[in-house]
Amino acid sequence: MRGILLTGALFLQYYVSAAYIELLKEDTLNMVEQLVEFGKDEKDTSVWDELAEMTDLYGNRMTASVQYSRSAEWVMKNVKKYTGMTAWTEDVNVDYWKRNEESVHLYVPTRENQMVNLPMLGLGQSVGTGPEGIEANVIPVSSFDELQTLGNKTIAGNIVLYNADFVSYGENGQYRFNGAFNAEKYGAVGALVQSITGYSLMTPHTGTMNPAGIPAAAITVEDSKLITRMYNRHMKAKQNPDIENAELFVAPRVKLVMNAQNYVNHTQQPNIIIDIKGSEKPDEIVILSGHFDSWDVGVGAMDDGGGAFCSYGALKLISRLPRKPKRTIRVIMWNNEESLSRGADGYFAAHKNELDKHIFAMESDIGNFEPWGIELMSKNATLLNLYTVFGNQYLPTIGGGNVTLVDEPPNVDIDPLCAYGIPCGGFVTLDKYTFKNPSTPAGFEGYFRFHHTEADRMEVLDPHQLRRNAAAMAAWAFMIADQ
Ligand SMILES: *[C@@H]1O[C@H](CO)[C@@H](O)[C@H](O)[C@H]1NC(C)=O
Ligand SMILES: *[C@@H]1O[C@H](CO)[C@@H](O)[C@H](O)[C@H]1NC(C)=O
Ligand SMILES: *[C@@H]1O[C@H](CO)[C@@H](O)[C@H](O)[C@H]1NC(C)=O
Ligand SMILES: *[C@@H]1O[C@H](CO)[C@@H](O)[C@H](O)[C@H]1NC(C)=O
Ligand SMILES: [Zn+2]
Repeated sequence: MRGILLTGALFLQYYVSAAYIELLKEDTLNMVEQLVEFGKDEKDTSVWDELAEMTDLYGNRMTASVQYSRSAEWVMKNVKKYTGMTAWTEDVNVDYWKRNEESVHLYVPTRENQMVNLPMLGLGQSVGTGPEGIEANVIPVSSFDELQTLGNKTIAGNIVLYNADFVSYGENGQYRFNGAFNAEKYGAVGALVQSITGYSLMTPHTGTMNPAGIPAAAITVEDSKLITRMYNRHMKAKQNPDIENAELFVAPRVKLVMNAQNYVNHTQQPNIIIDIKGSEKPDEIVILSGHFDSWDVGVGAMDDGGGAFCSYGALKLISRLPRKPKRTIRVIMWNNEESLSRGADGYFAAHKNELDKHIFAMESDIGNFEPWGIELMSKNATLLNLYTVFGNQYLPTIGGGNVTLVDEPPNVDIDPLCAYGIPCGGFVTLDKYTFKNPSTPAGFEGYFRFHHTEADRMEVLDPHQLRRNAAAMAAWAFMIADQ
């Protein structure tokens, strides 16, 4: 997940009592009921097991890396085990951003080791510092307004630290995306960003940033607060040199080294596409999707191995049914979601003559915990009412049947399709740890504890939740495709 989530989105909950309507024809309902039953089979841990095998073998799937290619080959080999599926790849040009050696050291002269090594992660797309690095004082700010108030006089020649506490990804993400660009305007030589999370165990969180001429990196919440306290004590001591320990309160000063390199259009790598062809209208398409690329830390189990493999798992469940859906159900594992959306843009361009044949596009890219439902973007009120009834009537036993209306594309990869006017949905789950309704602004706090960190490993995910997600997504796809 990269994009800003649902800021200012419109949340409408529709409760339609529809016990009296039999909306699905019996033949469709039978298939949907079987998919729901598959979701209850406690012995089936295949979605988790397969994702574990692939990620154990190849590690992360950073776009343009060799691991991305090997993982994609693993899927293309795996898909041969299933009958009734047609799989192919569609290449797109991708840039390769390599972080290489990087570090932040904080000068604390009272410690035995005066250069304290801080865990950090350079932000994707950042320029490097060169091997010599840069050394400068750090000026903490909690907002862009504060940056502007301090202005060139205070900022020029220094490194800006954005230390805002976690509110939501949308609110805090602006400092990661635009922090360096804005700081540069006031003559800053670098930017540090407090990692975007409400809960930290000294884990830095990376993520992409908008182009800027100065380097930028994420540090942990703990170190962001340490630097802020040092700065505040230093300012106090400057105003009043008589306070106790004033001479010990040095200005926070760091050495930032980033050998990051960006290789434009380094290689061509695929979106992975897998179809179960429809029996009556094979040219009409319902998409289930997640992105296949990940960051270069952890293994991208949660972001977005879970979304990609629950989509794929859904298709495998559908392949076990006694008959095919009327329309084609297409799984897409998108490339390059985490930085430049070349996968989404490439698909849109390559399929521009058949966009009108796309009936629905779903993506799962905000965690796969207990199924909750879909965030629907559609101007069609009939469709909203219909899906609300579908979800409530056919999915309550495994969850995933709630429907909420949003007025912005719910996920990055389906964004072009949603914007084109294809009804689309983000598949969302009850948040890990907080179990909050996902349509509240901070409803994804548990997800963001792991997002873009070394800790995004298989242990974040639960095999039974993944199976239920796959079954719920399969049921949605089948209901829509069989209409
Ligand atoms: C701030 O400093 C930058 C870099 O030194 C300079 O380009 C810019 O014009 C300055 N802006 C203001 C408002 O002084
Ligand atoms: C890289 O690829 C993109 C998209 O495929 C293209 O628009 C761009 O012109 C290419 N850039 C270079 C430097 O080749
Ligand atoms: C709205 O959705 C309904 C139900 O799927 C469909 O029958 C109808 O054609 C749609 N209307 C438009 C304008 O797309
Ligand atoms: C809707 O979400 C709630 C949890 O917020 C869950 O208990 C319920 O089963 C869901 N409903 C459906 C129809 O999936
Ligand atoms: Zn993602």
